[in-house]
Amino acid sequence: MIAKLSFLAALLCFGGFVRGDDCIPRYVENLRINVSAVLTWEVHPDEKCEIKEFKVDVVSDDHDYELHFKVVFQYVDLSILPVCEEWHFVVTPIAADDVVGYERRLVGHVPLPSSADISLRYFNVTQQNSRDVLLQWDLLNHTLGDCTLRYRIVIENRESGDFQDVYVSGRSTNLHNLSPCVPYHITIRAVNIAHPTIEGPIRFNNLEIPPHAQVSPSLTSIEIGPTSADMTWGLENWSNRCPVRALHIDGGSRFNISVPIEDSPDRPPVEVNLKGLQPNRMYYLKVAVENSGGLSQPSQIAVQTAELDPGH
Ligand SMILES: *[C@@H]1O[C@H](CO)[C@@H](O)[C@H](O)[C@H]1NC(C)=O
Ligand SMILES: *[C@@H]1O[C@H](CO)[C@@H](O)[C@H](O)[C@H]1NC(C)=O
Ligand SMILES: *[C@@H]1O[C@H](CO)[C@@H](O)[C@H](O)[C@H]1NC(C)=O
Ligand SMILES: *[C@@H]1O[C@H](CO)[C@@H](O)[C@H](O)[C@H]1NC(C)=O
Ligand SMILES: *[C@@H]1O[C@H](CO)[C@@H](O)[C@H](O)[C@H]1NC(C)=O
Repeated sequence: MIAKLSFLAALLCFGGFVRGDDCIPRYVENLRINVSAVLTWEVHPDEKCEIKEFKVDVVSDDHDYELHFKVVFQYVDLSILPVCEEWHFVVTPIAADDVVGYERRLVGHVPLPSSADISLRYFNVTQQNSRDVLLQWDLLNHTLGDCTLRYRIVIENRESGDFQDVYVSGRSTNLHNLSPCVPYHITIRAVNIAHPTIEGPIRFNNLEIPPHAQVSPSLTSIEIGPTSADMTWGLENWSNRCPVRALHIDGGSRFNISVPIEDSPDRPPVEVNLKGLQPNRMYYLKVAVENSGGLSQPSQIAVQTAELDPGH
């Protein structure tokens, strides 16, 4: 009940301000703060009211600090504000007859100036486990903050010349897609995105993840006769570039076969044709792939040969 009453009171109060023929100014548009710390906006293109001035309220996130202006132009110079702190910028148009319009709010910060020192104190590259690499860095000077900084990381494969170019924020990132056995050259620099042509000095590191065995090969097809088994085995793809040398088929006490592999980027499945098997017999096979990192874990299969066709 109390809520309803106060709602009514608010309506009446509002009604007292706005007469039927009053023109209520619309929201301003394109409210933004530029790199010179100038807050700008535009009058709504369909604005019907005559605008006398704009009320500009700048409030800190914790409401501890406030600035209030009334201006006739469509900008306010806010270079007195500290950079990289979050502010609420609220602009409200006021009509010639003092009717207050709708407010437009922007939450943002004054960008880092072009003069800011954005060099890095260090750039560390640490291999965490077989394939994960942690990159860490930090700014030399934190005085002004880092709100408009991104870090541009270029990962170059020094063998092929291929490179990846990524932008990250924060002070660290993980790379999961680096291949062992590839020499990488990794560079980093800060970029102030408020002044996109300004890049900080480069730091770099070289990295080569040591050779790493392949994952177990996977059986992709098999055809079994009375005395033969024709199989194809799929290999881990080129994301592990350590050169592949051979596929080993361990038939326990019965045989051991190695199929040499000529490695290539498409890593086609390897054909294995076992001959001279006994009909109607169970063979247990362990199949492992060997690369410069050693032997993979074996894949195990059981192969039951067919019975001899009585017609033969
Ligand atoms: C920022 O906006 C003000 C007002 O529009 C303009 O005078 C100034 O040149 C702008 N600064 C930059 C760097 O664009
Ligand atoms: C980065 O490497 C340097 C030199 O090895 C070391 O002193 C520093 O503690 C490392 N920083 C981090 C965050 O690991
Ligand atoms: C850090 O940057 C601030 C602001 O640009 C500057 O006044 C200060 O001298 C710098 N500190 C160092 C140690 O360079
Ligand atoms: C290799 O395989 C992994 C997953 O097994 C996949 O995410 C990746 O895209 C593949 N890479 C290539 C080069 O085919
Ligand atoms: C094949 O190799 C495995 C593992 O090295 C071994 O245990 C087995 O005795 C070998 N079999 C033959 C027939 O040599």
